Amino acid sequence: MYKTKIAGVGKFIPEKVVTNKDLEQYMETSDQWIRERTGIEERHWLKRGEDTSSTMAAKAAKDAIKMAGIEPEDVDFIIFATLSPDYFFPGNGVMLQRHLGITKTEIPALDIRNQCSGFVYGLEVADQFIKTGKYKNILLVGAEYHSGGMDISTRGRGISVLFGDGAGAVILQATEEEGKGILVTHIHSDGSQAEILSAKNPGMHGGYYDEEASEGGYDTNSDHPFVLVTEKMLNESLIYPFMEGQAVFKTAVKKFPEVIRKALATSGYDTKDVNLVIPHQANLRISQFVQKILRLRDDQMFNNIQKYGNTTAASIPIALTEAIEQGKVKDGDLLVIAAFGSGFTWGSAVIRW
Ligand code: UT7
Repeated sequence: MYKTKIAGVGKFIPEKVVTNKDLEQYMETSDQWIRERTGIEERHWLKRGEDTSSTMAAKAAKDAIKMAGIEPEDVDFIIFATLSPDYFFPGNGVMLQRHLGITKTEIPALDIRNQCSGFVYGLEVADQFIKTGKYKNILLVGAEYHSGGMDISTRGRGISVLFGDGAGAVILQATEEEGKGILVTHIHSDGSQAEILSAKNPGMHGGYYDEEASEGGYDTNSDHPFVLVTEKMLNESLIYPFMEGQAVFKTAVKKFPEVIRKALATSGYDTKDVNLVIPHQANLRISQFVQKILRLRDDQMFNNIQKYGNTTAASIPIALTEAIEQGKVKDGDLLVIAAFGSGFTWGSAVIRW
């Protein structure tokens, strides 16, 4: 069996910078609140009509393809992780295929809906196909257009100050180099609290999960079949993401260290062997907490949430690309990536570079 290596990386960040101060014109918030609770200083948001999550992904993918020394036609499988796709359906995988101009090859395109863990989920899936030799050049991307779907007002401030737009991509290939490549991956989920971080609408639940019929924006006494978006949802802003921040925080600081420890234990390493941990950029305070629990030095932890906010499925490939650009990933280094998010879903991987 082969091992899987990351042969190319790329990222795309929209040009428009939105500082914490800029957000004060839309909502009651402050630079101090955002910095103290999240570490975020600024994020990038798309201008409307400029790009989408699939077009940003194509830009990141082109760089990853170039770095891997292949052509777009050589990609034989696309895996796309996002929670902010262009359409309800079809998924972003086929959109990306079209943007890259590789529809004639008729390769498969798979869409992953695991939010902040989407990239790690995609990595585990891709790893299985590379190891068995089924595919040779898998393009895995994470991309998000969050700013197009958040409540940018005081009502939505608990969420909208956190998230940014962007895309990251990798090309995965087989390697026969001794000891190198993806050593282990672990992915997990627990749906018992699925709604704790969610965007239920638009959706086809039709009020099924709501204790009170009206809560989700439906009138369940009506036999009208249409449930996707109702007037009530629009009028009462029920179409935006929802998060119980503190509960998510508490679970995140438990699951991140747990899944990193598991990754190291199964690959036979210790935290002191790790050159760089690249966590999903959820909140700088979460990463600092994880660093403390695992007793990692500052130089073993990569953070860039200060500049980009939380870019969900895009955050790890963006961070990996930036770490490489900054010379922080060297040949032979031991990397750990880890993610946690909505679902809950979480996961990790150990990679010998
Ligand atoms: O990536 C996926 C996983 N997501 C996460 O891991 C996020 C985890 N959660 C968090 O990072 C934190 O819970 C937040 C940063 C989202 C919130 O921080 P917090 O310390 O848990 O604040 P809180 O939600 O308990 O809110 C404290 C106060 C509230 O006001 P009152 O009720 O005490 O008067 C909020 O209304 O802060 C208020 N608040 C804000 N104030 C200014 C909430 N958002 C803002 C804001 N600006 N943007």
